[in-house]
Amino acid sequence: MTALTLADCEARDRTDPLAPLREQFLLTPGRIYLDGNSLGLLTRAARERIRATVEDEWGVDAIKGWHTRDWMGLPDRVGARIARLIGARADEVTVADSTSINLFKLAASCLRAGNGSRRKIVTELGNFSTDVYVLQGLRDLLGPQVQLCAVPREEVVAAIDRDTALVVLTHVHYKTSELFDLAEITRHAHAQGASMLWDLSHSVGALPVHLNAARVDFAIGCTYKYLNGGPGAPAFLYVRKDLQEQLPAGIAGWLGHSKPFDFCDDFEPAAGMRRHHCGTPGILGQASLDGSLSVFDQVDMQAVRQKSLQLTQLFIDLVEQECAGHGLSVVTPRSPERRGSHVSLRHEHGYEIMQALIAREVIGDFRAPDVVRFGFTPLYTSYVDCWHAVSRLRDVLESGSWQVADYRVRRAVT
Ligand SMILES: Cc1ncc(COP(=O)(O)O)c(C=O)c1O
Repeated sequence: MTALTLADCEARDRTDPLAPLREQFLLTPGRIYLDGNSLGLLTRAARERIRATVEDEWGVDAIKGWHTRDWMGLPDRVGARIARLIGARADEVTVADSTSINLFKLAASCLRAGNGSRRKIVTELGNFSTDVYVLQGLRDLLGPQVQLCAVPREEVVAAIDRDTALVVLTHVHYKTSELFDLAEITRHAHAQGASMLWDLSHSVGALPVHLNAARVDFAIGCTYKYLNGGPGAPAFLYVRKDLQEQLPAGIAGWLGHSKPFDFCDDFEPAAGMRRHHCGTPGILGQASLDGSLSVFDQVDMQAVRQKSLQLTQLFIDLVEQECAGHGLSVVTPRSPERRGSHVSLRHEHGYEIMQALIAREVIGDFRAPDVVRFGFTPLYTSYVDCWHAVSRLRDVLESGSWQVADYRVRRAVT
């Protein structure tokens, strides 16, 4: 194979149909931002939408905004925009709370709807920590009627049986970027009579998802990663249309009531996805997400996926070409159909290496004990970014410049 060059990367950028979208993001000159799998960048549209919400809506209308700006309808309108990206109907998705809370709500709803006929929840050992913690908490709350079966990835399919109420899996693994076959596992769960819940945190906005086509029951996901909704932006949740009316609210709160302003003593769920709202929606976060989603109105998710695969492949090829012999190994699957939109590398001094890279304006992150992650957001990552990121990684490794005491100090967010 002939060696890849900077000129090759420049040529790819010149013919990249998504390249003009980069202009819609606020990028810092000289910085290579490869952490959109953790926190996506600010769009110009979101910045303007936040400004307008603060100054023109809240600042002018104050409480009248709930009517004049239909703030109450905003979570469903934003949900409808996300629905298009995940192969769902507009009335199957809404935006509320965090991904962790949405998992609790939907898992609790599903168990309540089953009336204890099945006891088991199956998930992957090593799934993103919050997914496992939430399910552990639910098990502890409900006692022996719930059994949590967290097993290694390769044992998940076999663990799904006739006693399984719910299977909870993350479509793209947060650490390795490995993809599950969403349609195939959903089919298997349904064949056993179990419900299927997918965490789409690392999928939404990075690759096309087809929830309806696979007849997925439930889904949840973050909006601050590839959807660029902003730090702590509210999460989304999906429930398949035909399940909605029979599903109780996982947390019954006043805004999930059919008539919240009647303030009656007994909970009566609102129709459809509304019942999954418990408290007042944070309008600033919703507005920011609404603004950031505008960029997706201009793109086809197949084109996003195609570029994502080309970026991740280029990055892996460059790491192998430029950084061989320095103790790095590629954790992410090489076969494209099994790979999400970030690339993970393992190194025993991964934390320090990432700190040295960040000091050189290559922004990725670290997941314990030894994985460095590089996220590729096709809307703003260029092929030349891959080149410069790997060149700086090679320099850090060759010079040993990661061996600085300060780089060993673990920060609160890694
Ligand atoms: C797969 C996955 N699920 C859930 C979360 C956490 O979501 P939240 O903080 O919105 O509860 C993350 C955060 O990175 C994640 O990667």
